[in-house]
Amino acid sequence: MKSYWFLRALSLCAFVIAKVSSAAVDGSDAPFPPETYVFSLWNINSTNSSGNDKAIGNDTSLSDCQKCTERLSLGKNISLSRPDLVPIIWTKWCTVTGVDTAIDCEVTYSRNTVQRTGYGTDFTNVLQLMDPSSYDGQYYCYYQEDVCSLPATPEVDISYMWPQKQPKHYIAPTPGSETFNVLHVSDFHIELDYTIGGEGNCSSGGICCTPHCYREKPFPSGYNETYYNTSTQSFYNSSYVNGEFVKGDFEYYYNSSIYQPAHTFGEYECDAPEVLINNSLKSITDYQKLKNLNFQFAIFTGDLVDHDEDQYISFESTVLSEEYIYRDLKYRLQNISVFPVLGNHDSYPYGQLAQNSSGHSNLYNWNYDLMAEMWSDFGWLDASAAQQVRSHYTGYAITTQQGLKIISLNSNSWYDANLYTFWNSTEPDTFGQFEFLVDELVASEAIDQRVWIIAHIPPIVSDILPIPAKLFSDVIKRFSPYTIAGIFYGHTHEDQFSILYAGNGTEKTAENVVNHAWITQAVTPQVQKNPSWRYYEVDSKTFSIMDSQNFYFKLNETFDNSGNEPTWEFEYSARDAFDIDWPSTSPLNASYWHLVAEKMKNSTYYNQMYTNYEYRFSPYTPDCSSTTDCKDNWCYVTSFTYERYANCTS
Ligand SMILES: *[C@@H]1O[C@H](CO)[C@@H](O)[C@H](O)[C@H]1NC(C)=O
Ligand SMILES: *[C@@H]1O[C@H](CO)[C@@H](O)[C@H](O)[C@H]1NC(C)=O
Ligand SMILES: *[C@@H]1O[C@H](CO)[C@@H](O)[C@H](O)[C@H]1NC(C)=O
Ligand SMILES: *[C@@H]1O[C@H](CO)[C@@H](O)[C@H](O)[C@H]1NC(C)=O
Ligand SMILES: *[C@@H]1O[C@H](CO)[C@@H](O)[C@H](O)[C@H]1NC(C)=O
Ligand SMILES: *[C@@H]1O[C@H](CO)[C@@H](O)[C@H](O)[C@H]1NC(C)=O
Ligand SMILES: *[C@@H]1O[C@H](CO)[C@@H](O)[C@H](O)[C@H]1NC(C)=O
Ligand SMILES: *[C@@H]1O[C@H](CO)[C@@H](O)[C@H](O)[C@H]1NC(C)=O
Ligand SMILES: *[C@@H]1O[C@H](CO)[C@@H](O)[C@H](O)[C@H]1NC(C)=O
Ligand SMILES: *[C@@H]1O[C@H](CO)[C@@H](O)[C@H](O)[C@H]1NC(C)=O
Ligand SMILES: *[C@@H]1O[C@H](CO)[C@@H](O)[C@H](O)[C@H]1NC(C)=O
Ligand SMILES: *[C@@H]1O[C@H](CO)[C@@H](O)[C@H](O)[C@H]1NC(C)=O
Repeated sequence: MKSYWFLRALSLCAFVIAKVSSAAVDGSDAPFPPETYVFSLWNINSTNSSGNDKAIGNDTSLSDCQKCTERLSLGKNISLSRPDLVPIIWTKWCTVTGVDTAIDCEVTYSRNTVQRTGYGTDFTNVLQLMDPSSYDGQYYCYYQEDVCSLPATPEVDISYMWPQKQPKHYIAPTPGSETFNVLHVSDFHIELDYTIGGEGNCSSGGICCTPHCYREKPFPSGYNETYYNTSTQSFYNSSYVNGEFVKGDFEYYYNSSIYQPAHTFGEYECDAPEVLINNSLKSITDYQKLKNLNFQFAIFTGDLVDHDEDQYISFESTVLSEEYIYRDLKYRLQNISVFPVLGNHDSYPYGQLAQNSSGHSNLYNWNYDLMAEMWSDFGWLDASAAQQVRSHYTGYAITTQQGLKIISLNSNSWYDANLYTFWNSTEPDTFGQFEFLVDELVASEAIDQRVWIIAHIPPIVSDILPIPAKLFSDVIKRFSPYTIAGIFYGHTHEDQFSILYAGNGTEKTAENVVNHAWITQAVTPQVQKNPSWRYYEVDSKTFSIMDSQNFYFKLNETFDNSGNEPTWEFEYSARDAFDIDWPSTSPLNASYWHLVAEKMKNSTYYNQMYTNYEYRFSPYTPDCSSTTDCKDNWCYVTSFTYERYANCTS
């Protein structure tokens, strides 16, 4: 033990000396005693291997939560005088104390580089801004280090942003008699490193089906190494050339360390090879032709980049993923406008987004510029919307040819992995995004225009911070049902709906329904789901959703099909599926989904049905009658925010 700490101490000592001399060489700030900070943080003392009892980590009077906020307080002090030292000190602290593996410590605290994600620059920026002794510190230490409890959500209110709700605003407009079709796709998650024959059932080394992943567990007995080497197994290096499917060469190379070699069109633990994305897009245009569907436009609710560990994701691969998928969408959908949002993966470093008022927004300009350019070049956005993309973190508002307004928001502004949300964390609108949203809603309400809101992450997931989740609900309440005709998300990869009830949400009655969100299924099979997409039948007059039609294919049936293209199938219609007696003239509004939720609550049969759609009938769909996996589904679909969900399930 002693020698272990001594060895560690030696290397720390060398590191500190190196820093001091380099600081002297580059002539930066005069006397600076980094040792003091380093020792205070690290709880060890290089000249005394039995430790330093004054260090934060050794202070027995502090709880783990207090240690975390103290570290932030110290970090803030360092960040203000020597910001360059923060990434170095924290990477060392994290490694030496074993908070994480060396590589994860480097990824988390080192400076941003284009080769490999590092959050050190963002962490330092946020330390400079945040108040560690307030909610900022509590939230950070809950969400980032899981050592504080979640503080009670403070009273926040943005009703000053809007005029009073008038009696007519409590009534939804009545649909007309015509509909048009709108495509909804989400969560492509292209895997640029997808490797046919790579490990499709890995447990380490990032996401499966990549060259760096591997399986730690021993193979189950009965494993037959010759099983896969037959031409019926789909290990063909296939692709789409000029839009047409070209079956490539059979590429099976036996590798004794691989248990479940990755097939052409994907695996249940993997993100999407590009051939799957192109196939999915082709299935859309095939159905369009087959059924003469004529989509008027499409919405895309985010996530282009894969789920690999941050260490395997670079700035270049992030940009490439964004460019490839938008290019593929444009190529296939041609003149159909796509109204996109960016997801939590569509940033570099992952999940980060800085407020304009923080002074660091310029770190993400590349993304705003790239999206503004691409989306307008493809003819999806006009010049004014493209300008908003640049000034609203890729968010924008646009009125479609049909007269519907679509408001697109970047949900990283509310996302717990975004370090910048821990600055001014009780200020309701540091991103100015609520102001943007509300101004657009007020303007639409004034001219009786209806609005759809699209974003990536729904507030029902634990990733959305409680304050914005509450405020967003308040906005929805204020502008429903008169103005808001639809709310659409992706992110969960599951086909779900999410009902908002009035008041504090505990009285889930038909009278209390306010609105609901459509959370759509993903194209990526990750995790354990079949690739899928949908389109909506939209009332031409009110833009209310009359039905959704859902399509999928069984990924497991592409494993041993001689490498042929998948067979897409019609999955279900939301109006027909749940056996609800619902007038054909009424939209599938929150009242409709309330009835579906009631059925799920009352019956395992309907709960199972919901779960089957959630997973698109994948082999991994939970069995609601023999497991407890479905027991919280009702709370999930009736809570709208994670805070309400936690109340509901407790
Ligand atoms: C480290 O230990 C030495 C010897 O006990 C002590 O003099 C010194 O103050 C300690 N340094 C810090 C930063 O605690
Ligand atoms: C090392 O630190 C411990 C605890 O502070 C102290 O009891 C001990 O005397 C120190 N040893 C030396 C050699 O300074
Ligand atoms: C301080 O913490 C380190 C690491 O946990 C430990 O090895 C050391 O004994 C502690 N020192 C004191 C004085 O408690
Ligand atoms: C940080 O600096 C402030 C102001 O100088 C000081 O009060 C506080 O004790 C310092 N915090 C730490 C942990 O060093
Ligand atoms: C991965 O392998 C295990 C056996 O070790 C199996 O139970 C599991 O279903 C496999 N997962 C997938 C997605 O194939
Ligand atoms: C292994 O799989 C191959 C190909 O499917 C089959 O011909 C062979 O009989 C299997 N061997 C055993 C021991 O099951
Ligand atoms: C797969 O085919 C592409 C061309 O379609 C080629 O560039 C690539 O090298 C092939 N991959 C392998 C592993 O042979
Ligand atoms: C697969 O089978 C072919 C033909 O039977 C054989 O030539 C080849 O060596 C086998 N490859 C592996 C990796 O087993
Ligand atoms: C954020 O907090 C700072 C103080 O740290 C304050 O001056 C500023 O006005 C706040 N900005 C916003 C946008 O809330
Ligand atoms: C919600 O409001 C009802 C009254 O409408 C009240 O009885 C209940 O305690 C509240 N629940 C929570 C969790 O605030
Ligand atoms: C569900 O059960 C409740 C109470 O048992 C009943 O009032 C309600 O009508 C049922 N709802 C449906 C949709 O069957
Ligand atoms: C694929 O999975 C489904 C659902 O578990 C199952 O019904 C079907 O038989 C499977 N197909 C193949 C070819 O394994």
